[in-house]
Amino acid sequence: MAVSMVLLHCAILGLLCIFPSASPTVVAYMEYGGIPLWINRLLGEPSVLSLQNRIDPAWFRANNPQPCPQQCDCPIQWTTALYCDRRGLADIPDSLPDKTQYLFLQHNNISSLSSSNLANITGLRWLILDHNQLESDKLDQTALQNQSQLCYFFANYNHLSSVPRPLPAGLRQLRLAYNQISSISPKAFQNLQNLTVLLLQGNKLKTITGGHFKGLFSLNLLDLSGNLFSSVPRHLPPSIQQLYLSNNSFTVMDKDSFVGLFNLKYLRLSHCGLQSRSVQPQLFNVSSLVELDLSYNKFTTIPTVPSTLQYLYLEANEIQEFNMTSFCREVGPLSYSRMKILRLDGNKLSYQHLPSDWVFCLRVLERIYI
Ligand SMILES: *[C@@H]1O[C@H](CO)[C@@H](O)[C@H](O)[C@H]1NC(C)=O
Ligand SMILES: *[C@@H]1O[C@H](CO)[C@@H](O)[C@H](O)[C@H]1NC(C)=O
Ligand SMILES: *[C@@H]1O[C@H](CO)[C@@H](O)[C@H](O)[C@H]1NC(C)=O
Ligand SMILES: *[C@@H]1O[C@H](CO)[C@@H](O)[C@H](O)[C@H]1NC(C)=O
Ligand SMILES: *[C@@H]1O[C@H](CO)[C@@H](O)[C@H](O)[C@H]1NC(C)=O
Ligand SMILES: *[C@@H]1O[C@H](CO)[C@@H](O)[C@H](O)[C@H]1NC(C)=O
Ligand SMILES: *[C@@H]1O[C@H](CO)[C@@H](O)[C@H](O)[C@H]1NC(C)=O
Repeated sequence: MAVSMVLLHCAILGLLCIFPSASPTVVAYMEYGGIPLWINRLLGEPSVLSLQNRIDPAWFRANNPQPCPQQCDCPIQWTTALYCDRRGLADIPDSLPDKTQYLFLQHNNISSLSSSNLANITGLRWLILDHNQLESDKLDQTALQNQSQLCYFFANYNHLSSVPRPLPAGLRQLRLAYNQISSISPKAFQNLQNLTVLLLQGNKLKTITGGHFKGLFSLNLLDLSGNLFSSVPRHLPPSIQQLYLSNNSFTVMDKDSFVGLFNLKYLRLSHCGLQSRSVQPQLFNVSSLVELDLSYNKFTTIPTVPSTLQYLYLEANEIQEFNMTSFCREVGPLSYSRMKILRLDGNKLSYQHLPSDWVFCLRVLERIYI
């Protein structure tokens, strides 16, 4: 039981199970754009994202001989981490220790970032600026350029209108959710060949064209939920495993929207106004898919899904019929659906609508909601 819950959690959060690491820790705060943070203890990464209400800062001041800016706390267990979060800071503090690798500045009032702020720091690995007032025109073009060790740059919940540029080539995660980004410059992601996570949900993007994501060879998770897209962006990197597109208004879905995404495992399209008649029958028959979220749409029939799909969320639609061919084209010793969780609650269906032989098709089902 406990194990299957972990697996389910794993499948839903997706990310947790994908990145390999020797001794990982996962910090599943629903902050930081809602995607859990993967922490590598072997590299000395701090597993605490804030010291507030955890450890008495006065104790560090008394016991830590290292210099520490007045506005920040410097814990002794992570000597390269600097916690300056939730201080009402209007600016990045001066004289940050040169050896700083993990810089926490979230929940402040910081509106600008200049290259001189970080000039003396050469080994910065994480820069966390969520929940500030950052504005694109107050962000020095060269501020991040020389940070060759920077792997995480988080600026969710700010006032950015464009993707900061240029970004250092070694960046692995870029989290810019809940800003006011309305367009992406063609060169914004150029050279970011190690980028695995890109969060852009809750922005004002309408279109993304071909070249934008070119060169993102390692991109694994792309979150474009809650934007103003009216069609699925084309030419997304084929490395993508998790594609989140919920809360956009897709009136039409081209039949080849997901063609070429050979690694796509987790696809989220809830709250998108999707209707059965505007979706080609084969659209979701993508053989790599493990989890498909189509909840809160206007489907009247169950779309065709690959027999390898394990999690299908179709709650809160207008489905009136249960047609088994959606799951199984044929039923035989090896021909059956691998579905584990099927959600059909909040539709116009009841158990009476299930054909008597459905268990031969959905034979490994663990849970059905109807
Ligand atoms: C941030 O700035 C705003 C106005 O610019 C102010 O009302 C607010 O109190 C400030 N927040 C903090 C935590 O200082
Ligand atoms: C960088 O180091 C120089 C020389 O030690 C110092 O004068 C300057 O104030 C430092 N800059 C910052 C932003 O800390
Ligand atoms: C970045 O590095 C280059 C080459 O070392 C140097 O010329 C430039 O001044 C640096 N830029 C900033 C903003 O520190
Ligand atoms: C990308 O990651 C690889 C493997 O960790 C590393 O060797 C390479 O230097 C990184 N590329 C950049 C541009 O930092
Ligand atoms: C989508 O919108 C609904 C309703 O406004 C909200 O409850 C949900 O959290 C949103 N989901 C995402 C992924 O933005
Ligand atoms: C779905 O895709 C699979 C594999 O690509 C294919 O064999 C199958 O015929 C497709 N299903 C339908 C109903 O066309
Ligand atoms: C189920 O769907 C298939 C293909 O769309 C169709 O041929 C068949 O008549 C449907 N069966 C029922 C019971 O509606």
